[in-house]
Amino acid sequence: MPACAIFARFPCCKAGIRLRQLGKRLPACVYNSSFAKIQIKKMTNPSERKLIIAIDGPAGAGKSTIASRLARKLDYVNLESGAMYRALALRAIDWDVSFDDEEALLKLARDSRIVLEPTIGGNRVLLNGKDISARIRERDVSEGASRVSVHPKVREWMVAKQREMGIGGGVVMEGRDIGTKVFPDADLKIFLDADPVTREQRRLDQQKVKGPSAESMAAELRERDRRDRTRAASPLVAAADAVVLDSTHMSEDEVVQRIEELVEQRVAARR
Ligand code: DC
Repeated sequence: MPACAIFARFPCCKAGIRLRQLGKRLPACVYNSSFAKIQIKKMTNPSERKLIIAIDGPAGAGKSTIASRLARKLDYVNLESGAMYRALALRAIDWDVSFDDEEALLKLARDSRIVLEPTIGGNRVLLNGKDISARIRERDVSEGASRVSVHPKVREWMVAKQREMGIGGGVVMEGRDIGTKVFPDADLKIFLDADPVTREQRRLDQQKVKGPSAESMAAELRERDRRDRTRAASPLVAAADAVVLDSTHMSEDEVVQRIEELVEQRVAARR
């Protein structure tokens, strides 16, 4: 198997990430920059190009669910950039590499084959061929992902890969820095937020955590939030041109509908 591939369509790519949209046509993602330029040149009518949609925001704001639903509705691909930081954190745990050792983490990242497969329920994540989708949602990995993501060199590596994945358009990419760093020219940028208590409750419900562990888990979430917002490299912040959506009092349906309206506006504006 090549180091990385969107098999049939991009067998030549080297980046280390494979995409396959189950049950649908292959997404318009590309894996090396010269190939990307050729693909974009081929698109003679820019209004036909599918959009790049960036959804950023803190944990528990509902990004993954919304991105997945939106992508399905638009027939786009949803990519959870956080899953890549999670995969690296898991690798660091397995290899006993410190979350503080930037150089060792970068080497680990370069040696890893992280595969994101968009599925109906979110991304299936493979690390060197092994399905780690469930393991990377556990608490030690969540903590590790937030810690490995503070390092500028790790971020640089991740951002380059994420750009390669989304540059062809037709993508809903969610994370913390998609609108500010990965795709500063994204067609639509959403900053999805909710008040902290609501976000904590959603996360606890999602993980089915109750009782005494709920408070310690909520405390960990607050600490990760603080770290993501205050780190020196690409802190979590809304892009100046992002549409800020506060989902505290909105249902999932309402959020998806609102973003769809914004997508329609962007598409209409290009005609
Ligand atoms: O979205 P998530 O909870 O799976 O992200 C896990 C961690 O990864 C999060 O604490 C911060 C980091 N992250 C990041 O720094 N930049 C991104 N684009 C996505 C995630």
